[in-house]
Amino acid sequence: MTGSPLIEVEDLRIDLNHGSSRVAAVEGVSFRIDRGETFGLVGESGCGKSITALALIGLLRPPLSISGGTIRFDGREIQSLSAARQRALRGNRIAMIFQEPMTALNPVSPVGRQIAEMFVLHKGKSWREADQLAVEALASVRVPAPERRVKDYPHQLSGGMRQRVMIAIALACGPDLLIADEPTTALDVTVQAEIIELMRNLCAERGTAVLMISHDLGLVANVCRRVAVMYAGRIVEERGSADIFRAPSHPYTQGLVNSLPRLGSRAALGRTRLTEIAGVVPAITDFPAGCRFNPRCAHATEICRTAAPETTWLGAGGLVRCHHHA
Ligand SMILES: Nc1ncnc2c1ncn2[C@@H]1O[C@H](COP(=O)(O)OP(=O)(O)OP(=O)(O)O)[C@@H](O)[C@H]1O
Ligand SMILES: [Mg+2]
Repeated sequence: MTGSPLIEVEDLRIDLNHGSSRVAAVEGVSFRIDRGETFGLVGESGCGKSITALALIGLLRPPLSISGGTIRFDGREIQSLSAARQRALRGNRIAMIFQEPMTALNPVSPVGRQIAEMFVLHKGKSWREADQLAVEALASVRVPAPERRVKDYPHQLSGGMRQRVMIAIALACGPDLLIADEPTTALDVTVQAEIIELMRNLCAERGTAVLMISHDLGLVANVCRRVAVMYAGRIVEERGSADIFRAPSHPYTQGLVNSLPRLGSRAALGRTRLTEIAGVVPAITDFPAGCRFNPRCAHATEICRTAAPETTWLGAGGLVRCHHHA
């Protein structure tokens, strides 16, 4: 049942360098994404999702740095590659789209040029060929009248259209992995659904693996085959999408599932979803001892306050890290 691994993260640790002291913002994070697989990373704001993604593409910058573990892409350790090699990997074989396309797009360059640039930089095309390919790329993300739209500047497009342009740029070189970090949070609900559907279809057609990052477990489980739940810099549960809904094992995952609005309810109409777990994610410098979720957990006992839970393997390759897992 297992495919061939595309990216393998093993025991990743990311430090925040704090003057003379260092604290682990992310610790003991391991996961694997196979070719063509869809994998989700969920958790509340501040859990470490984005910095984990940045580590994967070699874009962490001080005060953050990788201080332990390995990341292998297609069998090769990313940290061992030169800066130039890492750059070539980005955009070409690993692409990333972010929450706010306005900050990722160049405001003074027509969008078609920005897509074309990918073909020139990574595929050695002439600008003439690349401009033509940009029209096709824009058509593939269902932007109407692409031959006219290529001349538009980012500010002339709606948020949804801009995110389509970002997807066109990201997929231009046929990457093996697309990392989508909260790609639709800035959009309204109906546009969100369209963009997710588009991304999912294009990646499925092309066999592109997806790492989808969101605070919305419903969205991620809907798109991804497997889901990892992150809390305070650690993965607390990893399951198949159906299992995570049917039988969430970690109290934090249970909280996420229970706070999802029921279908058709008033809250389902695009309201914030995670308010029902009492308390907040601790700051990096304030992680509690033992299980980091213990101050917010209704099941916490003495051991939860003193010992970090070991990994318990569940069926179908799932895992949970909790002293009192279901
Ligand atoms: N450049 C930085 N300097 C200091 N701390 C940082 C920096 N970038 C991130 N952090 C901290 O690292 C932790 C993880 O941040 P990260 O952005 O990965 O969270 P996230 O899970 O992506 O949250 P969100 O859902 O809000 O995007 C947070 O506590 C954040 O404050
Ligand atoms: Mg983030």
